Amino acid sequence: MPPIVSRRPFSLSALTLSLALALSPTLSLAEAPVAAPVAAPVVKYDYDQDIFHPVYAKNGMVAAEQELATRIGVEMLKRGGNAVDAAVAVGFALAVVLPNAGNLGGGGFMMLHDAKTGQDVALDFRETAPARASRDMYLDDKGNVAEGRSLYTHLAVGVPGTVAGMEHALKRWGTMKLADVIAPAIKLAEQGVVVSPTLAQMMDVEKDNLGRWDSTRSIFFKDGRPLKAGERLVQKDLARSLRLIARHGSKVFYQGEIGDKIVAEMAQHGGLIGKDDLKHYKVAERAPVSGEYRGYKVVSMPPPSSGGVHIIQILNMLERYPLSQYGLNSAQTIHYLAESMKLAYADRAEYLGDPGFVKVPVKGLTSKRYADELAQKIDPVKVLPAAAIKPGKPQPYESDQTTHYSIVDGKGNAVAVTYTLNLNFGSGIVARGTGILLNDEMDDFSAKPGVPNAYGLIGGEANAIQPGKRPLSSMSPTLVLKNGKPWLVTGSPGGARIITTTLQTIVNAVDFGMNAAEAASTPRVHHQWLPDELRVEKGLSPDTLQILKRQGYQVAEKPTMGRTQTIQVRDDGLYGYSDPRNPDGATAGF
Ligand code: GLY
Repeated sequence: MPPIVSRRPFSLSALTLSLALALSPTLSLAEAPVAAPVAAPVVKYDYDQDIFHPVYAKNGMVAAEQELATRIGVEMLKRGGNAVDAAVAVGFALAVVLPNAGNLGGGGFMMLHDAKTGQDVALDFRETAPARASRDMYLDDKGNVAEGRSLYTHLAVGVPGTVAGMEHALKRWGTMKLADVIAPAIKLAEQGVVVSPTLAQMMDVEKDNLGRWDSTRSIFFKDGRPLKAGERLVQKDLARSLRLIARHGSKVFYQGEIGDKIVAEMAQHGGLIGKDDLKHYKVAERAPVSGEYRGYKVVSMPPPSSGGVHIIQILNMLERYPLSQYGLNSAQTIHYLAESMKLAYADRAEYLGDPGFVKVPVKGLTSKRYADELAQKIDPVKVLPAAAIKPGKPQPYESDQTTHYSIVDGKGNAVAVTYTLNLNFGSGIVARGTGILLNDEMDDFSAKPGVPNAYGLIGGEANAIQPGKRPLSSMSPTLVLKNGKPWLVTGSPGGARIITTTLQTIVNAVDFGMNAAEAASTPRVHHQWLPDELRVEKGLSPDTLQILKRQGYQVAEKPTMGRTQTIQVRDDGLYGYSDPRNPDGATAGF
């Protein structure tokens, strides 16, 4: 068995964290005046000005990370299905054609605008910790985090939520039969799909983790190596599992043949998921977290995701700055983005967790008054060192890799889904006889306070492991509404960068009047407090980077961040775009 390869990018000691937390006082809420927001600029779309152009459709649109799945979604819409029917079909299809992130063995979130009632709903089908999970399960005898245990072993697997989530959405808001929306996925699994260069590269990068298990190797390997571009990925066991779900519903996954196989896989390799864990898994309908940004309403995923809370918190800080005057990706704009991001990520580490287990101060964190208090720490020029930031004091408690897709139908329903196995191909473990890859979502818990997870994110007490608890997520399926109707439907994969990628898509559309294609194509920046580094994509002007370095930022040009799938609703129809950072994505409509 090859050694476990960890992608934990760096290690930060608890001592450094506590030093950071001990510095810099915070202001009290009473001192903070509420700043008047700067209005959004009047946006005029000009085709002569735009370099990138979105896809147009009048009656319905799907934007997803794999073209075959996009086509299946559009087919459902053409047959008269609504956005939820299409979303469930795409969810099952991606489990076949995008095996690194699409899944049956993982979990995720769906944001939905129901045009009939005008309501926005957040559906939570995040994985849960098994009943036998415990707080220190990833620590070795010396109390250190054991490398790889929360990523590539059976202990890394959370109780999957995707199948229950898809079935729940279809029953509640869909119009089609489960068997009909799953049928195209069964065909693709049975007949096989051609491996793209992107998928081949991902399998090659993950070959040690995929190659460790016979059940996985027999699907993704040929002649002792991962499948190459142009070869066919055939998934007979997965086709059978999908057929069983089509026939018997989610019961076969949680209390039937598929569940029995998952439990057997766990028992054989020291995993913790038992029959009762599957039987008791529950999806949750939640009220989205919402805020106002320059006259638009933003609704996004509440805890156990941190995404919506921090997108709104950062937008609340940014609202006081005339970013459109400062200019897209100017040093001044990036400075305000980075400083606001840092303050929000410091709060993430302290306050965010599963609301079923900890009290998360959502109202406080997303209030305009708290944003005013935080914004007083932002100097127009000086960079606040990460060590000088500690989590703020919001109003007391009131009560990489992943995939995203967006869908709008002709009736005005909008669906944004982000779901995941966590890292690419999750734990790399296929439950024998099912064809189903299992997640490694348990790594999103904080294994030990102060020790970063695979995304370099620090966690605290609020995100400690407890049986039945959902690990904290950054996934942020988001709707931006204008006059109560969806205007932008968006989201992204990218681990810790999901929040800042989605945020910049909104800012690009609202502040800079960009169409969906331009908003996706422009370079992104990211700061997550710790590490104290301003991460940038290539394409920013060297002059701008010089200014930022002189200001004191540790600027690091690294691989691309996020892969958005965005649909914008305009008076004359739907305009969407799949992030060019993944060549396999496609937006289509009719
Ligand atoms: N597994 C990544 C996230 O949920 O944020």
